Amino acid sequence: MMHLAFLVLLCLPVCSAYPLSGAAKQEDSNSDLAQQYLENYYNLKTDVKQFRRKESNLIVKKIQQMQKFLGLAATGKLDSDTLEVMRKPRCGVPDVGHFHTFPGIPKWRKTHLTYRIVNYTLDLPRDAVDSAIEKAVKVWEEVTPLTFSRLYEGEADIMISFAVKEHGDFYSFDGSGHSLAHAYPPGPGLYGDIHFDDDENWTEDASGTNLFLVAAHELGHSLGLFHSANTEALMYPLYNSFTELTRFRLSQDDVNGIQSLYGPPPASTEEPLVPTKSVPSGSRTPAKCDPALSFDAISTLRGEYLFFKDRYFWRRSHWNSEPEFHLISTFWPSLPSHLDAAYEVNSRDTVFIFKGNEFWAIRGNEVQAGYPRGIHTLGFPPTIRKIDAAVSDKEKKKTYFFVEDKYWRFDENSQSMEQGFPRLIADDFPGVEPKVDAVLQAFGFFYFFSGSSQFEFDPNARMVTRILKSNSWLHC
Ligand SMILES: *[C@@H]1O[C@H](CO)[C@@H](O)[C@H](O)[C@H]1NC(C)=O
Ligand SMILES: *[C@@H]1O[C@H](CO)[C@@H](O)[C@H](O)[C@H]1NC(C)=O
Ligand SMILES: [Zn+2]
Ligand SMILES: [Zn+2]
Repeated sequence: MMHLAFLVLLCLPVCSAYPLSGAAKQEDSNSDLAQQYLENYYNLKTDVKQFRRKESNLIVKKIQQMQKFLGLAATGKLDSDTLEVMRKPRCGVPDVGHFHTFPGIPKWRKTHLTYRIVNYTLDLPRDAVDSAIEKAVKVWEEVTPLTFSRLYEGEADIMISFAVKEHGDFYSFDGSGHSLAHAYPPGPGLYGDIHFDDDENWTEDASGTNLFLVAAHELGHSLGLFHSANTEALMYPLYNSFTELTRFRLSQDDVNGIQSLYGPPPASTEEPLVPTKSVPSGSRTPAKCDPALSFDAISTLRGEYLFFKDRYFWRRSHWNSEPEFHLISTFWPSLPSHLDAAYEVNSRDTVFIFKGNEFWAIRGNEVQAGYPRGIHTLGFPPTIRKIDAAVSDKEKKKTYFFVEDKYWRFDENSQSMEQGFPRLIADDFPGVEPKVDAVLQAFGFFYFFSGSSQFEFDPNARMVTRILKSNSWLHC
């Protein structure tokens, strides 16, 4: 177990406000709480092993990560708001790490699922437990094509049990309060199962811990959702006893999340996520660790990386080495899917998105007015109907557009296409295979993506230095 000195240090500005006598004790218990919290929910121990030399820095980062995730000011200090949140009851599933470590996007590969209530709490009559679980199941059934049936014996996909303290997995419960329950993501055996901490006082109303609310949240995990940083979401990790139970509704964030995995219910009048005319392979949810994975477009956005594929994108931030997976429409409802190209112009804080003969400008999550515009307004000849890939060189202020085996260069200062183009990709980027799907500039290199291969190109040496799998950025 790591030493607490760093946490104590961080605690000083807060704790020095206490009278001297009680201060030392207070510091210790706050540090213990914080350490336990960051270990349980923010993967602290694992990371310390990996980054031993940067421990204190890491803990500040971890506290900031936790603060950011839970909607607090990201001070990196154990201030009173932060400590208060750490004392709140919550889901036992970590906010980062642990469950994120297996490959692919975990989801059930079938739409009919079974659940079984293995045993009961003594806090409530059995039929109250049955109906809380049934109601929780309906919450998800309503917004997906998934159907559920209950088993009374044998192995169900989702085995539901009440247990206390150590109960046969790696996540012991902790008595009354704090961790209320946990659930495993989709898969065989233990996966998909839900465990409730029977040291809580489970109730039908909000006087104790409401079983329906916690069950609905845990089922979200059983179906493949991780925690959401959206405080309105059912998948927010803290237990919110103020939710009006009679008017319970999933937030749009939850609906978007679950529909990104399973799509909407079949009879839904909402625009179907999967086109009804089946698109043979494109209609599948892409899996980040599929060795054949290719990308439609890649861009940076305010220091993060965005990898677009079909209707989705992965977002890799510095906070979370594990990429997030979203529907494009969740962030930019008016953008199309199956993009052609994307690039960021840092100096304008704008990402340009291309599809067919049109392009859009976005800032953060806002599509700018006046778009889409025609690509010919950039100076392409009329014969060009679409572009394959684009990247903007942040230092040189030049944007490269790749079309089949040629490329154009656009000057960001003069806002015009440069003379002497197009040129052959093979002449200026030897070793890079056309056709190019996407290009990313990072660490002084250009990364050219072509199908499932990625070419790392050193612009100074004018050569390919490495060939990687396209999904090497997604932690596979
Ligand atoms: C319920 O079942 C789980 C899993 O089999 C077990 O760990 C737990 O102790 C059981 N609880 C009770 C109250 O029997
Ligand atoms: C549990 O909650 C019920 C309903 O509010 C209450 O009557 C009971 O006293 C509580 N039990 C414990 C052990 O807190
Ligand atoms: Zn949870
Ligand atoms: Zn458990």
